[in-house]
Amino acid sequence: MDNWEKRVEDCLLQVREKTDFVPKAALILGSGLGALADEITCVESISYKEINGFPVSTVAGHKGRFVLGYIGEMPVIIMQGRVHYYEGYPMPEVVLPIRLMRRMGAEILFLTNAAGGINPTFSPGDFMMISDQISSFVPSPLIGPNVEAWGMRFPSMDTVYDKKLCGILKDTAQRLGIPLKQGVYLQTTGPNYESVAEVKMFGKLGADAVGMSTAAEAIAAKHMGMRICGISCISNMAGGTSENPLTHEEVNAIANKAAPQFKKLVKEAIIRMAEERF
Ligand code: HPA
Repeated sequence: MDNWEKRVEDCLLQVREKTDFVPKAALILGSGLGALADEITCVESISYKEINGFPVSTVAGHKGRFVLGYIGEMPVIIMQGRVHYYEGYPMPEVVLPIRLMRRMGAEILFLTNAAGGINPTFSPGDFMMISDQISSFVPSPLIGPNVEAWGMRFPSMDTVYDKKLCGILKDTAQRLGIPLKQGVYLQTTGPNYESVAEVKMFGKLGADAVGMSTAAEAIAAKHMGMRICGISCISNMAGGTSENPLTHEEVNAIANKAAPQFKKLVKEAIIRMAEERF
């Protein structure tokens, strides 16, 4: 059995040899959304490859580095690229970056991703604030011995997405005039996209969008007592159509197109979060 706590502490020691920066918020940038990291007041960047024992993404369009710096007054650690369960990493390793960022000091986790729309009122290019999640189709990242120092054995997932942070997202979007949908995110293992029957099933189960990340990360973060919020960029309608099968390139292209608005929304929301007292 891997000792995940030791792995995380080893990674933390290596990071601490490079920087003593203490982030308050952690931000994960999904497919096609990585450009936000170029806009912050950068203090340091650390490539995942520089950290022994840290999982490295193999997906095209994912850069694979931490960027540390400030958005407004908020000290942030940004992940430009994440690892996914479908790459073959076990779930506790997929969420190792979350554990590490929490150990560095992050209290807030801001998750972003590209996702397939299931709710028929959604269109490609829409933004969806994640109000809740369905993780039942992937293994829990908490399976295995519980690390008491991280959190409890049976943590509640009653409120995964923090009400106050969600309120800030909604307010910010409204102030900027950026339409913001909201809904339930469902995680699959991937890497295949969904069949038409699966999309229909997920809709009946209460999902508004589907993707291959995020829910497991939110569980690990909640386990460690972080406050979480998230936005999906709806890059396509899930399932696609037989005349026009969905491709990863298409997902990235739509996410890239939506990126300027997305950047504005995320940046302003984080500036607002820095102004709030928690
Ligand atoms: N399904 C699953 N994951 C995704 C999709 C999708 O349609 N689009 C972007 N990520």
